[in-house]
Amino acid sequence: MSQRWFITGASRGLGLEIAKAALAVGHRVVATSRSKNTADPIAADSSERFLALALDITRPEEVSKAVDSAVAHFGGIDVLVNNAGYGQLGFFEENTLQDALEQLETNLLGTLNVAWAVLPVMRAAREGRIFNVSSVAGIRGSMTGSIYSASKFGVEGFSEALSPEVEPLGVHVTIVEPGLFKTDFLSPSSVRFGGQTIADYAEQSAKLQELYRGLNRQQKGDPQKLAEAIVSLAKEPNPPLRFAAGVDAVAAIEEKIAKLRLDLDQWKDLSVSTGE
Ligand SMILES: NC(=O)c1ccc[n+]([C@@H]2O[C@H](COP(=O)([O-])OP(=O)(O)OC[C@H]3O[C@@H](n4cnc5c(N)ncnc54)[C@H](OP(=O)(O)O)[C@@H]3O)[C@@H](O)[C@H]2O)c1
Repeated sequence: MSQRWFITGASRGLGLEIAKAALAVGHRVVATSRSKNTADPIAADSSERFLALALDITRPEEVSKAVDSAVAHFGGIDVLVNNAGYGQLGFFEENTLQDALEQLETNLLGTLNVAWAVLPVMRAAREGRIFNVSSVAGIRGSMTGSIYSASKFGVEGFSEALSPEVEPLGVHVTIVEPGLFKTDFLSPSSVRFGGQTIADYAEQSAKLQELYRGLNRQQKGDPQKLAEAIVSLAKEPNPPLRFAAGVDAVAAIEEKIAKLRLDLDQWKDLSVSTGE
């Protein structure tokens, strides 16, 4: 059955691949991006089933307008992909409050903005699928990812708590946790690094930035395959709450589970001693 998809950050990278994969199997797609024209080329063969809209997810009034236009055009939204986002990297103290606010405003509050606008449409239909794109950094924190992880752990907590609220109304929530995928994520057009120089971190920070630059466009994850996986999950009657994407993501999450188990077991007596 043809589904109506609403995708954020569809100008490039994973969002663009998801739009293409959904169109390829006959779905109707609203592809949103800040630069509306960038998604237009994919419209050529599927104009009847494709609508490109300009949308900056940090602007709630633009979000409402885009959702209204999508509903007016296709009559509803069956699948939402909250994909738009970027990485604010660097040692925590190299970043400023402004860096953190902008990161949270896009990755976390942007995701909430779109969910607020789309959920009434899905509740009215008593069905829907929401894919919130998190990251392996939303499960496991690592050096130079503190601000990015703060935003993606937020997406995870939000999604996990939202799921039981909307599941009885027919809306399934799935958190997508990619490892490293070959998109613009690490390119200068997307990634941002904190700009404050702190002598204690400077040498290591320079090395890590060099490492990230070297990894740009060399990532092993294939965004087309991930896009196809998401399109296939959207048909599952019982989709998972979490979906890890990539060999690296699976390994990192397994490590995290083991670490959680270890800490819990090692400190259990002290933990339970604090109260019933
Ligand atoms: N690639 C990876 O290794 C990886 C790993 C884990 C998680 N992720 C997550 O996957 C998602 C997609 O990233 P990607 O890898 O495809 O990176 P990408 O190629 O850099 O694409 C990012 C997309 O997000 C859009 N975007 C950024 N801020 C926006 C805003 N305020 N409003 C609307 N759109 C905005 C960009 O639009 P513009 O063209 O207008 O800038 C672009 O379409 C992100 O949430 C990212 O955190 C990626």
